[in-house]
Amino acid sequence: MGEFAGKQSRGRILVTGGAGFIGSHTVVDLIENGFDPVIVDDFSNSDRGVVEGLAEICGRPVSCYEINCGDRARLQQVFESAGPIDGVIHFAASKAVGESQEKPLLYYRNNLGGLMNLLEVMAEFGTRDLVFSSSCTVYGQPASLPVTEKTPRAEPASVYGATKRICEDILTDLVASGAPHRVTLLRYFNPIGAHPSARIGELPLGDPQNLVPIILQSAAGLRGPIQIFGDDWSTRDGTCVRDYIHVLDLAAAHVRSLDWMAEQGEDPRVEVFNVGTGRGTSVDEALDAFERATGQPIAREVGPRRPGDIEQIYASCDKVERVLGWKATRTIDEAMRDAWRWQERLANR
Ligand code: WQD
Repeated sequence: MGEFAGKQSRGRILVTGGAGFIGSHTVVDLIENGFDPVIVDDFSNSDRGVVEGLAEICGRPVSCYEINCGDRARLQQVFESAGPIDGVIHFAASKAVGESQEKPLLYYRNNLGGLMNLLEVMAEFGTRDLVFSSSCTVYGQPASLPVTEKTPRAEPASVYGATKRICEDILTDLVASGAPHRVTLLRYFNPIGAHPSARIGELPLGDPQNLVPIILQSAAGLRGPIQIFGDDWSTRDGTCVRDYIHVLDLAAAHVRSLDWMAEQGEDPRVEVFNVGTGRGTSVDEALDAFERATGQPIAREVGPRRPGDIEQIYASCDKVERVLGWKATRTIDEAMRDAWRWQERLANR
């Protein structure tokens, strides 16, 4: 364990993609829990201003290296200069479902190549612990709900989903081959919200695809009414159901995973956890939550279904609560309130 600013650190943690939406919120949680994070980010889908926002929130500078994990030599240099690295949280990946269909080679090279480089450099420097950012997208449309970690993974519905599934297999096969890594696979559901300080949040570059950034832009008058992608689904109100989790809760699950792996002793392992709230929320209910939490009216129209959408998915959180002792504590209303606060600050920047 290292030292930072004279304080005993609980460990130096490399956070790839640490300037991104979930990565940046995880960096805050790491610092608040006594870890010393080192960010690696190529800023292809994040903003350099996030690093300053992190320094403001945490009251200390956060070291950051501008590299892509596909550049193995630069990754080795980071391990050499910033090391020793006690663990890694790997967020860095391309994640736009639609774009992945148009640019499969970019997604396979970036998402699979980056992970394989990271694993080889970790082995070279004796770093064993890895928390991997996976996704509920590996389940496709589950036959029964809530979805558990034993629910069979589905045929990927997108190249993005395929890269997440293959990365899980890479990690599982590597440890099965005798590699000493201790790996936690966190399957996220739908991360939303922002840090209550409104200094960091979701910053979609270009035209957002996800529901909450679109709600924010619509409420801010930056776009027209919300297009609800179908109201003829077999759900309680006809709109799609998802498990929306506050990004702060999701960040905490990563830090808890590091502690948990350290508590498990030296044996190599791969452990999978669903990280959601266990509650399904429809699109209409999410829009209602936004209006309730912010007092901002949202114009909504019903449009055609979006290709590739599944009808409903939400997590069983029994395993993550029982094994990690982690549970989401924030409501969708809190997430919508924090997200709107972030949007208002963006508008006034
Ligand atoms: C949510 C719901 C839409 C926009 C994505 C990624 C997935 C995972 C989670 C990372 C859906 C509806 C949306 C709009 C709408 N991310 N919607 N009108 O598709 O559940 O999953 O985030 O691992 O990989 O694909 O999230 O926010 O795009 O959509 O009606 O303008 O909102 O149909 O039901 P999604 P989303």
